Amino acid sequence: MTAPLRILSVVGARPNFMKIAPFARAIDAHNASDPERLIEHFLLHTGQHYDAAMSASFFDALGIPEPDIDLGIGSGTHAEQVGRTMMAFESVVRDRQPDWIIVVGDVNATCACSITAKKEHVQLAHIEAGLRSFDLDMPEEINRMVCDRLSDRLYVTDKLAAANLRAEGVPEDKIRFVGNVMIDTLDANIDKARALDIADIVHSNAIVDPESPPALRSLGEGGTSDFRSPTSGHEGYALMTLHRPSNVDKPEILGSLVDFFTNTVCNDMPLIWTLHPRTRERLVSFGLWDKVANCDGLWLVNPFGYHDLLRLNMDARVFFTDSGGLQEECCVLGTPCVTLRFNTERPVTLVEHDGVSTLVGNDLTKINETYQSSLALERRPHRPPLWDGHTAERIVADLVTS
Ligand code: UD1
Repeated sequence: MTAPLRILSVVGARPNFMKIAPFARAIDAHNASDPERLIEHFLLHTGQHYDAAMSASFFDALGIPEPDIDLGIGSGTHAEQVGRTMMAFESVVRDRQPDWIIVVGDVNATCACSITAKKEHVQLAHIEAGLRSFDLDMPEEINRMVCDRLSDRLYVTDKLAAANLRAEGVPEDKIRFVGNVMIDTLDANIDKARALDIADIVHSNAIVDPESPPALRSLGEGGTSDFRSPTSGHEGYALMTLHRPSNVDKPEILGSLVDFFTNTVCNDMPLIWTLHPRTRERLVSFGLWDKVANCDGLWLVNPFGYHDLLRLNMDARVFFTDSGGLQEECCVLGTPCVTLRFNTERPVTLVEHDGVSTLVGNDLTKINETYQSSLALERRPHRPPLWDGHTAERIVADLVTS
């Protein structure tokens, strides 16, 4: 029997967790079926996200093993997060001596651990490589570029991402077109999500915090009928997530978005807005809390767990988001996606590539036009090549033969 292949994988923030879950599962399946070529897997959490709703709940729901190491980095400026992570990660790498370090996505943990991996002369693999928004104002774009430049193996979700890497001069033998691990997770969890009740989800995640100014209105009135799906003949509901600094950090921008959503969308149908901690804090500090808390038809909810958000997405009439991964989930589910960004690193999800996402920035005319036209759209699911639920298996098979 050969010595086990030692793999150290890194997660740090919410969008990483659904990417590592299928990878960890694929390693277990490999070990069960091929004990001659065992993989010894260590999972490290940098601790960039630490609230239960942003972190632990995903480990439980997606069956991700407890991290072997938790660096407990927490919040801070980008330099603080990256610097603290690099320092702590360096000693872990020296101690564990992995053959490969695996990073996913584009958060600060991805960037910090990539740099340390290469400085410690460990082979580095990036899952979800090659995505480019070409917008260096996004910290994630910097993280993606640094990580890809340093990676020895680049696992890409689609052909456009592979083309980006080629254009940057990445040698062909480092690139592997394997598909999208996020969709492995979606496929593995969709039956569990389908069994959930939409009204229960919204009511149990509603923000009712007597210390918040002011106390929120009761969610009891109206009951479950507010949340029936369009397919049952009722008017349906809209979903929203917003967390990017470009949308939530300036009072005039967040204020005008709040005006649009409270005056227009909430008049048409219930809007379920799941609040990232940063967004919630900004609504309060910019004096917008009263307005959102007292708007009829606006349901403010805490960050959803994975299955809850998937269930809501499956029946939403329209999704407003500035997230990256949600564009991909909307694409596969067919939910019209009004993307409140000026660019995307995931062009394969755009309408012009047969997806469902339309970029609207924070231009209210464009947001409204796209919203109005999306109301007339049928749900149109689309799967780009190799978004088939088996991406993690392909990655593990590639690593063991490398
Ligand atoms: C990070 C990622 C972003 C991803 C997002 C998903 C980077 C550069 N950005 O942004 O790509 O889309 O996660 O959420 O890595 N906070 C809490 N509890 C937590 C985590 C954060 O209250 O568990 C608050 C803190 O006030 C913190 C703020 O949220 O300062 C922002 O968190 P941070 O990790 O810095 O970045 P995100 O905006 O979450």
